[in-house]
Amino acid sequence: MEFFLDTGIVDEIKEAVDWGLVDGVTTNPSLIAKSGRTQEDVIKEICSLVDGPISAEVISTDKSGMLKEAEQLAKIHDNVVIKLPLTIDGISACKVLSDQNIKTNVTLCFSANQALLAAKNGATYISPFIGRLDDIGHSGMGLIEEIRVVFDNYGFPTQILAASVRHSDHVREAALVGADVATMPISCMKSLFNHPLTTIGLEKFLADHKKASL
Ligand code: G3P
Repeated sequence: MEFFLDTGIVDEIKEAVDWGLVDGVTTNPSLIAKSGRTQEDVIKEICSLVDGPISAEVISTDKSGMLKEAEQLAKIHDNVVIKLPLTIDGISACKVLSDQNIKTNVTLCFSANQALLAAKNGATYISPFIGRLDDIGHSGMGLIEEIRVVFDNYGFPTQILAASVRHSDHVREAALVGADVATMPISCMKSLFNHPLTTIGLEKFLADHKKASL
């Protein structure tokens, strides 16, 4: 499973890159707004830090506007992946970009049918938002399972990118049901290291070592 960091904050990316765990980065308009910088500046800097897929989302809601934005974003770096919303215009733009071998990430996916549309139009990634489904009492992980079955049934190469990941159990479950990628905030990535028995065990080892060296 690949790990992407879901952030527009460059310092967070530098910290997690140092752990050796960042395969790529996803951003969205809300995350870019939090950074207080322009999308172009943020994406350029991220591309200089991470040699992997970097998702940058379009703001236009019409197909031709999306394609114009995509053209500009794709010029920033070869690793830029164009993030498109799951709408008729977004899915239509996805087809045009896939035909040009430009990588795409179709976002705001909440059903297996929506994922099927993205896969049929050649999306590189589909982003089911599992946390937001959980928020309304639906099963985010159930959606990942359904999409896995559909994609495997037909051999679609579109990668399942578990998004809106909120905690370590989301990562564990997404890995168990076969998501290709999980994108997560740095707090979630950091929490994957934690287990109380690791902490207790290490304290004991160090205490025993100290006693033995007296
Ligand atoms: O990758 C999409 C993600 O940023 C949405 O997460 O927590 O705002 O639902 P969240």
